[in-house]
This record gives sequence, structure tokens and C-alpha cells, in this order.
Amino acid sequence: MINPKKVEYTDLELNVNGLKVRKRIPTHLRLLDFLRDELGLTGPKEVCSEGECGACTVILDGKIVNSCLVFAVETDGSEIMTIEGLSKNGKLTKLQQAFIDHHSIQCGYCIPGMVLSGEQILKDHPSPDRETIQNELAGNICRCTGYQKIVGAIEAAADERGKAQIE
Ligand code: FES
Ligand code: FES
Repeated sequence: MINPKKVEYTDLELNVNGLKVRKRIPTHLRLLDFLRDELGLTGPKEVCSEGECGACTVILDGKIVNSCLVFAVETDGSEIMTIEGLSKNGKLTKLQQAFIDHHSIQCGYCIPGMVLSGEQILKDHPSPDRETIQNELAGNICRCTGYQKIVGAIEAAADERGKAQIE
């Protein structure tokens, strides 16, 4: 239990989903709580709280991180993307659409993390095969879908991108 009299505060300035954010925050605040409680971005979910499930995944300066393991203060000056920042002007990305088309979603709890990890896979690998996708998704746990349709959606988005590049 944190003694409120001993809480220290600091100023935080960063870019979240393309918008500049400035806040005074307690130094012990986790990035996950900052995003959810201070900014109202509830896409990142809390499940395990210890870096095992990937439900709290966000992209921090171009890299996937578990926001439950990062102090908000560590992200000062950074760029963060949550699932809320992915679609532009209400237009879903190819991968988001592929998740819908492949019926890759059940309860949905893991899906923001899965989609962001999938986007990162597509960014890091020009033409990811099934094994690469499975390995790269190892940090994201889904209790509902059995993974096949999630992997299938990422494969389909990669295929579609490949075809678009050839045309
Ligand atoms: S809640 Fe962060 S990895 Fe599970
Ligand atoms: S869809 Fe329910 S945990 Fe993945």
C-alpha cells in the first residue's frame, strides 16, 4: 500500500496516437494505468499484470511492449500507439478488416494486443510465413479462439499486401 503522503509527482510529456499529451503524474504510475485511467484509452487490457499475456500491448517508439510492465514516467518524450490510434478517419487497417473477415474474434479481450502485435509482424517481416507469425505472437495469449483464425488473419493481410505490391 502506497502512503499518499509519500507519493512523488513528475511532469510527463509524450505523443499518444498522434496527439501531444502533457500530464502531472505520480512517479509510480504504470503506463497501462496512465493510458486507461488518465487518458481514457481502454483498448489496452489488464489480465495477468506481469508481462505474460500481452492483453496490455501497446507500441512504444515502434516496438511492442507490455504496458503493465512500464512506468509511465519512463515514456517521457516517446511516441505511443494504442489500438485506438490504429484506424485513420474511421477506416480500418487491412489487418483489422482481416480479423473481422476471418472471424478471429470471440470475447475480444486479447484482440487489441493481437492486432497491434500483428501490425508489428507485418511491419517487421515483408512476407511472414505461418511459423514466423506463430513465434512472433508467442507473447499474446488468447483463451478463446485457438489461435488459428488469428494467425490466418495475419497471413491473409500479408498476402493481400504482397498482391498489392505486385499489381
Ligand atoms: S496484463 Fe500486461 S502482459 Fe498481461
Ligand atoms: S478472443 Fe477471448 S481471449 Fe482472445
